[in-house]
Amino acid sequence: MRVVVPPIKSQGIKTKLVPWIMELAPKVKGRWIEPFLGTGVVAFNAGYKRAILGDTNPHIIGFYRAVQQKEITAARMRTYLEQEGELLRTAENNGYEHYLKVRARFNSGEFSPFDFIFLSRAGFNGMMRFGSKGNWNIPFCKKPDRFAQAYITKITNQVASVAHIIQPEPAWKFHTQSFEETIALANEDDIIYCDPPYFGRHVDYYNGWTERDEETLFQFLSATKARFILSTWHHNEWRENEMIQKFWNTFNIVTKDHFYHNGPNLDNRRSVVEALVCNFDANHVSQHHEKQEKKRDTEQFTINWNQENKQYAL
Ligand SMILES: C[S@@+](CC[C@H](N)C(=O)[O-])C[C@H]1O[C@@H](n2cnc3c(N)ncnc32)[C@H](O)[C@@H]1O
Repeated sequence: MRVVVPPIKSQGIKTKLVPWIMELAPKVKGRWIEPFLGTGVVAFNAGYKRAILGDTNPHIIGFYRAVQQKEITAARMRTYLEQEGELLRTAENNGYEHYLKVRARFNSGEFSPFDFIFLSRAGFNGMMRFGSKGNWNIPFCKKPDRFAQAYITKITNQVASVAHIIQPEPAWKFHTQSFEETIALANEDDIIYCDPPYFGRHVDYYNGWTERDEETLFQFLSATKARFILSTWHHNEWRENEMIQKFWNTFNIVTKDHFYHNGPNLDNRRSVVEALVCNFDANHVSQHHEKQEKKRDTEQFTINWNQENKQYAL
């Protein structure tokens, strides 16, 4: 399966798991409903004409609405990135002064979707993180040449691919709203794909997730007449996801080993067993398990969440 990759980056992006999710998903005659849209990579590859897409992060929804309404096009994005890329390249302090300028402009309340992409691509390690006022909260990647021509072409191609999918579809609806409201819109002809923040792995203001949230999600998914798929983690090298035992075990579950990187260092390869929970027969999907890699002593997180200070340390 050729996966369309969206222009927004985030640490929780499901690009690598899209073929697996689509292998499990039954084709329904209704709509694709995704209450935790994130970068949108799953929805854009689901192949539906009608969709309801929600997220509490207004920057994500604002960006895709702007693409749908043709305020953002590949050509406009190219012009913007060429201008800003040149300013970054020539700015004081190895580009840092211009990164700060764009960040201040965005955080002043302008929240331009173009600046959103700039920050997402010039921020540290492709991470997305916001503070409580919706402010961008990631340091500079320290690469003044970030927006070289090839990179700009890659991003504008991604904008073009997504535009090609969503611009002709007026029945693709984007909403800044919480998952309860989105799930409540589903009926028996629809399929819901849920990818909530993983419990116990708080990332930013829009990704706070408590056991109470998980329980509410469980109640909504238990009550829905639609088919649903929920992404979650099953276990990693150290522990089990207790939410599986507590809530999700009554449904069908398929699992798959997944390897990902924490930071740019190749040594920081970690594995987690991902799970898809669903309320329909999942026998057509086999369990995929590679031999798990042994944890190396030298592995370190690049960024650590400090629970006491409620902030990250580099
Ligand atoms: C793990 S990410 C989704 C990633 C997405 N599947 C992808 O591949 O990019 C979770 C998303 O849920 C959103 N979110 C967090 N709490 C939410 C809530 N209560 N209702 C709706 N969306 C929420 C976050 O803003 C974030 O974009």
